[in-house]
Amino acid sequence: SLLIIDFGSQVTQLIARRVREAGVYCEIHPYQSAAAAFERLQPKGVIFSGGPDSVTRDGSPRAPEAVFDSGVPILAICYGQQTMAVQLGGSVEGGHAAEFGRADVEILKASPLFEGLWEVGKRYPVWMSHGDRVTRAPEGFEVIGISENAPFAIAVDERRRYYTTMFHPEVVHTPDGAKLLSNFVHRIVGLKSDWTMSAYRAEMIAKIRQQVGKERVLCALSGGVDSSVAAVLIHEAIGDQLTCVYVDHGLMRLGESEQVVGMFRDHYNIPLVHVDASDLFIGQLEGEADPETKRKTIGRLFIEVFEAEAGKIAADGRGAPTFLAQGTLYPDVIESVSFSGGPSVTIKSHHNVGGLPARMNMKLVEPLRELFKDEVRALGRELGLPDSFIGRHPFPGPGLAIRLPGGVTREKLDILRKADAIYLEEIRKAGLYDKIWQAFSVLLPVQTVGVMGDGRTYDRVLALRAVTSVDGMTADFYPFDMGFLGRAATRIINEVKGVNRVVYDVTSKPPGTIEWE
Ligand code: XMP
Repeated sequence: SLLIIDFGSQVTQLIARRVREAGVYCEIHPYQSAAAAFERLQPKGVIFSGGPDSVTRDGSPRAPEAVFDSGVPILAICYGQQTMAVQLGGSVEGGHAAEFGRADVEILKASPLFEGLWEVGKRYPVWMSHGDRVTRAPEGFEVIGISENAPFAIAVDERRRYYTTMFHPEVVHTPDGAKLLSNFVHRIVGLKSDWTMSAYRAEMIAKIRQQVGKERVLCALSGGVDSSVAAVLIHEAIGDQLTCVYVDHGLMRLGESEQVVGMFRDHYNIPLVHVDASDLFIGQLEGEADPETKRKTIGRLFIEVFEAEAGKIAADGRGAPTFLAQGTLYPDVIESVSFSGGPSVTIKSHHNVGGLPARMNMKLVEPLRELFKDEVRALGRELGLPDSFIGRHPFPGPGLAIRLPGGVTREKLDILRKADAIYLEEIRKAGLYDKIWQAFSVLLPVQTVGVMGDGRTYDRVLALRAVTSVDGMTADFYPFDMGFLGRAATRIINEVKGVNRVVYDVTSKPPGTIEWE
């Protein structure tokens, strides 16, 4: 395996994804616990991530010395490059103009890092994002790539197999980055591609059986791909020792709850309890405008309702469930590092990493904990879930509540649901659904004047959003043609009472996030 040491970059996960795509298992650990992880995993190679800190600051993060002592190959990116430089006797200076965005590196010398990819004397586009820079490389290092503002764009010590880049090979904006990482993993570290979904399925089924034994498992089904794949996998492992609870918070899209319940209860024959808790959720969210409060309220209510239902299930005479199944993904696990004092900044409180298990005193079954979203989809296909279900755009746990800035009411939910259904229908009709990573509507707390027929209207504004993304970490707005947007807008305004204006969101992530709240 391979260890990624996280210095708090917002894109550390992408490094792991690229390594997994190369067919190699890897784990991310924050620098504070990296020494223990290194000891436990005994990785064949290590990657240092970027990070927001400055190595010139006293007490800034460092890599464990044991990694250097072990003699394994290291790839150090951005902040990783800088901490490696100072730890090995080079120097780094701050105070340079921060450089963000595209740059071109010129290759000065061949290296296994870009074998079969980059040629000496040519220039290649890369993505930079940094403030400090290395001013003197440690002994044994040689600069083999430069860019206009980065004299140490690529510096390596081929003897010790230390490779450092000032740019980020893990982001899609470095077009050859995935291949560079694959070169590191395969050619330099020498690991083989043996990470596949059918192997994972068999391994997880055995693990679940072993972990659960004869006990009962409860699963909170959200209707999303993750909890669904988890439920089907666990059901395959332990049959009706599994019971699913679907807490319907009333914040789902048009017809969605019926579809979820139908599929699991009727198609898969998985025991399922459907709880309609919409009055409770909508009642408590009414008038609440703060996005974080909304997210936290939903998380808290979800736990309350779920707990109450779990109590009822225990009363069926087959014993109380002692395990809780969750569709927790690897990104959820890593993101929650920021809650426990890890290096990255929390942007949003996610709904699916609540305090449920601790409060309920249950053990956890999390069969997707090691997987990224696209790996979960591959596993879902492996398990025979329909493509139409697996290919669905992601939908956030807090549902439509975070698409109603300014507060949730039944009336606004109703308008949003109808408008969103039309928007998605038009996207499907145009054959664009699978080209888009996520598309949705946001109903704004803004009214504008319009004229319909001969009358004045004073109705709400609906914002349409559609993005392309590989993983939700970065995203670009989808470039619809104007004809499409015009058609969708006309239909929405004509068919949905309460909306008289439609706008399209052309913000990428960063600087925007995908959801508005
Ligand atoms: P942002 O808005 O942070 O969203 O750019 C990135 C992706 O995550 C989804 N999202 C959530 N998913 N629970 C979830 O399960 C949540 O609380 C949550 N908030 C955002 C979002 O829809 C996008 O796909």
